[in-house]
Amino acid sequence: MSQEIRAFVVRKQDGEVSHQVELVSEQDLGQGDVLIRVHWSSLNYKDALAAKGHPGIVRRFPHVPGIDAAGTVVESQYERLRPGQQVLITGYELGGGHWGGWAQRVRVPHQWVVPLPQGLSLRESMILGTAGFTAALALQKLLDWGVQPEQGPVLVTGASGGVGSLAVALLAQQGFAVSAVTGKPQAQEFLHQLGAQEVLPRQVLQAPGDKPLLSGRWAAAVDTLGGEPLGVIVRSLKPQGAVAACGLVAGVEVPLGVYPFILRGVGLLGVDSAGCPYTVRLQLWSRLAGSWKPRGLEQIAQRELTLDQLSQAVEEILSGGVQGRVLVRLQDESGPEADK
Ligand SMILES: NC(=O)c1ccc[n+]([C@@H]2O[C@H](COP(=O)([O-])OP(=O)(O)OC[C@H]3O[C@@H](n4cnc5c(N)ncnc54)[C@H](OP(=O)(O)O)[C@@H]3O)[C@@H](O)[C@H]2O)c1
Repeated sequence: MSQEIRAFVVRKQDGEVSHQVELVSEQDLGQGDVLIRVHWSSLNYKDALAAKGHPGIVRRFPHVPGIDAAGTVVESQYERLRPGQQVLITGYELGGGHWGGWAQRVRVPHQWVVPLPQGLSLRESMILGTAGFTAALALQKLLDWGVQPEQGPVLVTGASGGVGSLAVALLAQQGFAVSAVTGKPQAQEFLHQLGAQEVLPRQVLQAPGDKPLLSGRWAAAVDTLGGEPLGVIVRSLKPQGAVAACGLVAGVEVPLGVYPFILRGVGLLGVDSAGCPYTVRLQLWSRLAGSWKPRGLEQIAQRELTLDQLSQAVEEILSGGVQGRVLVRLQDESGPEADK
């Protein structure tokens, strides 16, 4: 029998987008052969865009955001996933074309479901979430490119945010000297504690004119900003350096010529965590649960919110005001469906 569950629902009526926590029927969760009771989700920049009904993310209304979910299997038509098993999901269509993790349950295709790797709790898997997985994918891309700690400092932008803080932690733990760029002067101590060697203000990414090449300063970078700062980063890479491009909070157009590529051999490496192939996904989650597991994970989890508290956090993350990761706690959500 179909149950009612609590969910953060985004609606559009007469051109106006609104959101509120509602009771919805489990039947409305969408297609899939695995039903999961969500214990934890998280807040990502993309979730905030979805909560605002961003047309690049939300295809149909009503919508439930949440690109991350971790919990236990309730029902499964797929024999390798059994009821009670602990699992996590990040990306694919979750929270985009498909109702996401800001609900007590999700129903998804088994191809999206990652068994929780040994070494991580459900909560820890969501402190990492898409942000940690993206940082791990960026690190893997830089390692595959051949970047090594002795080649010089690695820049991380948007460093106090979700992807940024986890990139700082992962890189520092691998022995890289991390230069963290932040717009939050108050995040200095946080970033040093995560392992950043230096903390720089955002102004370092303002281009001094339109020179095609700037002095080679960084061996590599993990960039969450895009836009003009990404152009400055590519022009400031040392020869044979590379930048893993993850985000767009500063813009989508990158003013950039071809010189850094043909005179310094630098690499512009794209990072797409949502579409990452399943086998790579399993490898990276296993690393994140093992030797790559950030030592300061608890420090990065700055807040735990319920569905009812998310509205304000959506505004905060869109204005660049969130530090570290925000967890969404669903396991204590009360409602007619009392989770046992
Ligand atoms: N490619 C992928 O697979 C993937 C996966 C996850 C996220 N992303 C993208 O990565 C970006 C970061 O996501 P997130 O979830 O980590 O968001 P987040 O937690 O909000 O972090 C973004 C950080 O960027 C900085 N920032 C915000 N607005 C800025 C602006 N206008 N100019 C310069 N810096 C600004 C802020 O850090 P400081 O104050 O420290 O500067 C902010 O905390 C987003 O664009 C997101 O869509 C991509």
